[in-house]
Amino acid sequence: MASQRKFVVGGNWKMNGDKASIDGIIAFLNAGPLDENAEVIVAPATPYLDYVRSKVNANVAVAAQNCYKVGKGAFTGEISPSMIKDVGATWVILGHSERRHVFGESDELIGEKVKFALSEGLNVIACIGEKLEEREAGKTNEVVFRQTKAIADNVSDWKRVVLAYEPVWAIGTGKTATPDQAQEVHDSLRKWVSENVSSEVAQNVRIQYGGSVNAANCKELGAKPDVDGFLVGGASLKPDFVTIVNARKA
Ligand code: 13P
Repeated sequence: MASQRKFVVGGNWKMNGDKASIDGIIAFLNAGPLDENAEVIVAPATPYLDYVRSKVNANVAVAAQNCYKVGKGAFTGEISPSMIKDVGATWVILGHSERRHVFGESDELIGEKVKFALSEGLNVIACIGEKLEEREAGKTNEVVFRQTKAIADNVSDWKRVVLAYEPVWAIGTGKTATPDQAQEVHDSLRKWVSENVSSEVAQNVRIQYGGSVNAANCKELGAKPDVDGFLVGGASLKPDFVTIVNARKA
């Protein structure tokens, strides 16, 4: 069943990089070789979307790290899906834990953004994940199901949505979820989607794992049946990203 879903690996560069260091990243992406059976997406900071799209090979898609819920207007500092498309990017990351917990984005706002981005034709990586205290209180499923519902209620086309499970306690901490911990949540999420959306969507939707993925742990994580790829932060700035993209390759 897992083999039906194309492995999908995203590099979320967050607020990192300048033209010089981005040239280095593009060099190792273009040199690859990247597994042809994997879909690869990189998400530079907004000022570099156009630059990256113009330099990276066509087999690598480009994503924005965020966008707003309306098309244009007096929203200083925001960007719209049409701007993202205009520079040749085709994806947007929404609901990242840093948007939720540093910038206070609510489930409701993230749902509205998902709805609008899809209606504008973008593909969406929609992120969910529990904080450490929520996991320790036994609330992981409660939290990720609530976050997933706020997304799912706004999805018009599941073929253009990838879910990214990123436990907050694993992001940027070097503390990766074990393959079994990741598999357990991914399996619960797929069951939730089956019960609340449809069994067909549950079978086909790809669920990435994110949180301290690196060249050393990617193979074991990627071997889990419900782990359909990764959303990579720190390691996506390094040549290790190529190893991570190729995690499923024999
Ligand atoms: P790290 O890989 O740096 O832990 O970041 C994960 C992440 O937040 C990707 O979106």
